[in-house]
Amino acid sequence: MDLEPLKREAALRAVGLIESGMRVGLGTGSTAKYATEEIGRKVKAGELTGIVGVATSEASEALAREVGITVEALDPRPLDIAIDGADEIAPNLDLIKGLGGALLREKLTEIQARRLIIIADHSKIVAQIGEKAPLPIEIARFGFLSTIERLRQIVPGGRLRQPGAQPYVTDNGNYIYDAQLAVGGDIAALERQLKGTLGVVDTGLFLGMAERAFVASPDGVRELGR
Ligand code: A5P
Repeated sequence: MDLEPLKREAALRAVGLIESGMRVGLGTGSTAKYATEEIGRKVKAGELTGIVGVATSEASEALAREVGITVEALDPRPLDIAIDGADEIAPNLDLIKGLGGALLREKLTEIQARRLIIIADHSKIVAQIGEKAPLPIEIARFGFLSTIERLRQIVPGGRLRQPGAQPYVTDNGNYIYDAQLAVGGDIAALERQLKGTLGVVDTGLFLGMAERAFVASPDGVRELGR
């Protein structure tokens, strides 16, 4: 099934929440791309004015500039809204993010958003976190093998992300360890344990952050709240 039209439908619904003058967090990935393109279209058409975008990756910054959105760096001011995709969406809107590699900048940006709106096709819905996707964990390059050993004490399964001859490097110069979570258990406790592990920069667990999700399926777009 071609999921692209569904991703776009979900994105358009979320962009409908943006009003002129807003500071907007711009997500990363194949679904967020549709949102950024639609914001750019509305800016060009004069349907939205005074929009400032704050990008969650170098790729999303490049796309935003390409479609004509004014981009500013993240500063301590709140964002009115952020729109982004996700790799897993639990019923309470806890998320796994970061399969696209942008988890740290996404979390840094989206934590400052008054509203985090998630957009996705129906394949991202899970009953429990860890059901389908691995959990990306951004780790420092220095001593990464030691960090991975420490992580394996907590989450035994997983691997360093390495698409080719070399490990994947994030926009922040770090590596990613993709951990296979055991389904069930206390996710918030796991997050605290992972964040407390030496060498871990951040994880792709976005807990209690999303306000709402637009999830598109062939039957239409469902709006999920917490
Ligand atoms: C980027 O690192 C991710 O958090 C993405 O937001 C997430 O992987 C969803 O991406 P897609 O929309 O491409 O599935």
